Amino acid sequence: MAVSKRLNVNGKRVTIQIDDPEMPLLYALRDDLELKGPRFGCGLAQCGSCTVHVDGKAVRSCVTPLSQITDKQRVVTLEGLGTASKPHPVQRAFIEEQAVQCGYCINGMIMESAAFLAKNKNPSETQIKEALAKNLCRCGTHARIVRAVKRASTNA
Ligand code: FES
Ligand code: FES
Repeated sequence: MAVSKRLNVNGKRVTIQIDDPEMPLLYALRDDLELKGPRFGCGLAQCGSCTVHVDGKAVRSCVTPLSQITDKQRVVTLEGLGTASKPHPVQRAFIEEQAVQCGYCINGMIMESAAFLAKNKNPSETQIKEALAKNLCRCGTHARIVRAVKRASTNA
């Protein structure tokens, strides 16, 4: 039997109907709330493409069951980070550095970087690479991605 689940997503209180409280947060975001920023890549916490923020921390939504998320926690997706007319500094820097090829990994790269930069104002290139080491990009745009994050740290 479906039950109501309340969430706080991108600053809005929403209620969805769920059959399984262990359903991954990613499915609720993409399928119930139509937020397509977070992507399904591996489904196993291995690639990072599903990353969102929960209370400012980057989490892999593919392995985060809804049972672990309360409506007191703030879930933010790529859509809530910034808009086309008012992008987050990391989103702006990715555009300025043309850091995107196919784009599949970019949600994770941006969300991970934004959480990282919130705590590390002026990181070195090495620190940026370490922060993104577990985010995979099959297109090999890592060099541009690192440049974009460095640029964002000065734009922010
Ligand atoms: S889809 Fe979540 S880490 Fe790959
Ligand atoms: S831009 Fe294609 S996977 Fe990263």
